[in-house]
Amino acid sequence: METVSLGQNGPTVTPLCLGTWAWGDKLFWNYGDGYGQEQLQEAFTAALEVGVTFFDTAEIYGLGQSEKFLGQFLQQTQQLVQIATKFGPLPWRFTSQSVSDALTESLKRLQLNKIDLYQVHWPFAFLMSQQTLMNALADEVKRGRIAAVGVSNYSAQQMQEAHHILASRGVPLAVNQVRYSLLTRQIESNGILKTARELGVTILAYSPLAQGLLTGKYKIDQTEIPSGARKIDPRFSKEGLQKIEPVISLLRKLGENYDRTPAQVALNWLIAQGNVIPIAGVKTAQQVKQNAGALGWRLSDAEISELEKVSRPWLY
Ligand SMILES: NC(=O)c1ccc[n+]([C@@H]2O[C@H](COP(=O)([O-])OP(=O)(O)OC[C@H]3O[C@@H](n4cnc5c(N)ncnc54)[C@H](OP(=O)(O)O)[C@@H]3O)[C@@H](O)[C@H]2O)c1
Repeated sequence: METVSLGQNGPTVTPLCLGTWAWGDKLFWNYGDGYGQEQLQEAFTAALEVGVTFFDTAEIYGLGQSEKFLGQFLQQTQQLVQIATKFGPLPWRFTSQSVSDALTESLKRLQLNKIDLYQVHWPFAFLMSQQTLMNALADEVKRGRIAAVGVSNYSAQQMQEAHHILASRGVPLAVNQVRYSLLTRQIESNGILKTARELGVTILAYSPLAQGLLTGKYKIDQTEIPSGARKIDPRFSKEGLQKIEPVISLLRKLGENYDRTPAQVALNWLIAQGNVIPIAGVKTAQQVKQNAGALGWRLSDAEISELEKVSRPWLY
């Protein structure tokens, strides 16, 4: 399996990351309805079998349950796995000690001594300044409990500020994790992608399948209804599905050239942008295997630009 570095000299990971927000989450994904621990265990095993060993979680996913599942599954393998998790800058966390305490709790749930990538989940630090936050993270790198530091949902300017503070401590900013797919291309027009490239920051693309829309399985005849909070998301309504039809049709057409599914083509397009690692959310072994099929081949330049053209309505 090909590997890539996070940021300038961060940990080496697979070019696809697997997302575990749905692992234990009842609020958005309705964990327990149609999938449970058994399916997640199978998904984890399948990932290691196909060689995708990079997982993204957060302390907030399933209120700690996602990290706990990963910790439990990690105990059953000797294979080297890379874990990215996230710190939530909640209003009552305003000291560097609160960063250290949150990290201690994540390490306990994950049953690890060190986290490969520790990310700040969103930029609002309320009473904690970016100075305090970034310095607390740099301290943890020096202490050896974090290999690399990342941010998430940071604008181009916020990313620059974080990068600057960390650089003064000799710590590179490794990633900015942001929403990016053929149906959410704003990072191309608002400076995030460009700034990340200039700073040597890797983009981790979350919701790369637009929460299932780009798999093409949600159709206008509505034979398949999405579970959880997506039921009330207008993008999954008949009108919403009609709007994305040209993109889905093109994904299908291009997929035929390579015997690939729309999801695999959509992930391949993201990887083809360069400096981008998609984080595909998975619930089952089948989804893991299919998403891993986005690797090991490449759309042609003409096909990449066809997809760029059809998805222009989602650029801003
Ligand atoms: N930093 C942040 O603020 C933030 C925000 C959101 C997400 N994330 C991260 O990004 C990850 C991925 O984002 P996401 O879960 O929102 O969206 P996503 O990856 O675009 O979609 C995931 C969903 O699509 C469906 N799916 C995935 N692969 C499939 C396949 N091959 N065939 C058919 N269906 C498939 C599954 O749901 P169904 O089977 O139910 O359709 C799955 O739960 C999360 O797990 C999390 O780690 C981070």
